[in-house]
Amino acid sequence: MTRTVVVSGGGTGIGLAVASRFTDDNVILVGRREDVLASAAAGIGARATFVAADLATVEGAERVAAFAAEHYGSVDVIAACAGGIAASTGDGLAAASRAWLDNLRLNVMTAVHLVEALKPHLNDDGRILLYSSIAAYRGSGNGYYGASKAALHPYAIDLAAELGPKRITANVIAPGYIEDTEFFGDRMTETRRARLIGQTVTGRAGNPGDIADLSHWLAAPEAGHVTAQIVQSNGGALAGR
Ligand SMILES: NC(=O)c1ccc[n+]([C@@H]2O[C@H](COP(=O)([O-])OP(=O)(O)OC[C@H]3O[C@@H](n4cnc5c(N)ncnc54)[C@H](OP(=O)(O)O)[C@@H]3O)[C@@H](O)[C@H]2O)c1
Repeated sequence: MTRTVVVSGGGTGIGLAVASRFTDDNVILVGRREDVLASAAAGIGARATFVAADLATVEGAERVAAFAAEHYGSVDVIAACAGGIAASTGDGLAAASRAWLDNLRLNVMTAVHLVEALKPHLNDDGRILLYSSIAAYRGSGNGYYGASKAALHPYAIDLAAELGPKRITANVIAPGYIEDTEFFGDRMTETRRARLIGQTVTGRAGNPGDIADLSHWLAAPEAGHVTAQIVQSNGGALAGR
């Protein structure tokens, strides 16, 4: 059966790999940049469509839900990959407050808006995937990024309880360092990269395909009894060495 899969952040990095991995399904890519989404959808092929929307807003999420309902009738999988670090600018309390709110909007509200807007359209046996980070466990050096990712964990647990009677699962994937994404922008250096890889027991960076494979498995019928879980993919980095 061909499913309908909505992937936020689907134009780049992990989201694009996730969307590409659902080879038997229709995928709707969501992000803010239309040109990026159009090129990503063209690369995936006819099974991909896209909606340019800012999921930090209610209106953006409503537009995605309306598109999904109009073009596909319902949705089977929600992969809420959109997120990142909204950099802090300035010093003092006002700047700290702004940075926290920006990161909560970017990492929590983009997922909440997407899931809540699509929930009425989600079929029985559906799947919800949220994307956290190793930073939710060990901090991110700034407080707000790790904290905003950690907020997704109890949200998934409550979604699992709410939607379990419909055999809908809700899980979180918490990646460690994943290369080949836009996540780090110009913040990555060779020294930092070597340090992050050195923390793994696998001796390598994660790649978007690692997270796409895990997402695809969690969305499969075989994973129907796996719900309310936070699944880490970090090459053992959290355990330390
Ligand atoms: N890369 C890593 O090492 C790593 C590690 C742990 C967790 N993660 C998490 O994995 C997820 C995917 O990140 P990535 O590594 O693939 O980085 P990425 O390439 O920067 O992807 C982030 C995506 O989110 C979209 N996005 C951001 N804000 C949005 C908004 N308000 N509305 C709609 N879309 C929005 C971006 O597209 P637009 O800019 O066009 O909107 C972009 O496609 C993120 O949640 C990130 O926090 C990444």
